[in-house]
Amino acid sequence: MAIAKDILDLVGNTPLVYLDRLRASVNKGQGARVVAKLEMFNPGSSVKDRIGLPLIRAGEKAGLLKKGGTIVEPTSGNTGLGLAMAAALLGYHMVCTVPDKVPKEKQDLLKAYGAEVIVCPTSVDADDPRSYYKQAERMRDEEGAYLPYQYYNQANPTAHYKTTGPEIWHQTDGKVTHFVAGMGTGGTVSGTGKFLHEASNGRRRPAGRVKVVAVDTVGSVFTNFHKTGKFPRDIHQYLIDGIGEDFMPTTVWWDEIDAVEQVSDEDAFLMQAKLAREEALFSGSSAGAAVHAAFKLAKKLPKSALVVTLLPDIGDRYLSKFNVEWMEAKGLTKAPAYLRKMTKRGT
Ligand SMILES: Cc1ncc(COP(=O)(O)O)c(C=O)c1O
Repeated sequence: MAIAKDILDLVGNTPLVYLDRLRASVNKGQGARVVAKLEMFNPGSSVKDRIGLPLIRAGEKAGLLKKGGTIVEPTSGNTGLGLAMAAALLGYHMVCTVPDKVPKEKQDLLKAYGAEVIVCPTSVDADDPRSYYKQAERMRDEEGAYLPYQYYNQANPTAHYKTTGPEIWHQTDGKVTHFVAGMGTGGTVSGTGKFLHEASNGRRRPAGRVKVVAVDTVGSVFTNFHKTGKFPRDIHQYLIDGIGEDFMPTTVWWDEIDAVEQVSDEDAFLMQAKLAREEALFSGSSAGAAVHAAFKLAKKLPKSALVVTLLPDIGDRYLSKFNVEWMEAKGLTKAPAYLRKMTKRGT
């Protein structure tokens, strides 16, 4: 019988789909085809479902998490959900510390899976004892809670090495030539990249070894660090959710990253809108950034190449931002102009 043991059994094995309509409209049918891996098909609707259970198992293995114990993670988003789902099934108490800028809907989503949400002030430094990072560390140090810390836990990229990479390799019959994915903790692009590098290395393939491209935001540290080995001076805020950082996580495996492509808020939100309207794929702005970078690359490649990109999560999570009013209030022009053009009455 084809019946899953529990919901965690249904994490991964997400489908691939061609983005041929966008190839026609964005690249005028030129260059390589682009394929999207749809992580919204995971039970918690994001790529972070893949790391929830492995992060918990890593804590158990290290003796940091005992039966019925508490897990605490500073997270407002997808990782909290992935952890909360696994914690609910395994009988652990999940606590998410979140900054107070996180919308109520997101807090309620974490609570729906049984997580306790501790709201901390956004306006304090990361080093301030009141910050959501320090609150989580305090629970670890004073209360013995297990803190997975996705930015420093090698179980994060390893989960992608074990699942996302092999899936893409097998789903494309080893024909993938380029992998393009957003980089937040770097777990997705690093672990998947390592597997694809190893699988394609030394194989007699016309395309040679798979090229791995990490997608970064304007204002983050990764692009400059990759180019110069130094942090940039102009680290600043941006609108894209989930990728880019202002520090260097140890979950980035630089040896597995062949290039870094920086994408602006304008281009990411425009492509998020195009994905929804032209491919009926509603994902977050980080997917917009990845798909923008994928098509920019694909345009220069021969038809025989195959570019795989990854859509990290579902657009429903960002509805308060996916409208022309919000976008215009934030100073974006391309995506609102496109959305107005695509809608008869201009809204
Ligand atoms: C929406 C979204 N996209 C992309 C990413 C980046 O994935 P990774 O942390 O594996 O680099 C994240 C990570 O938090 C995310 O939440």
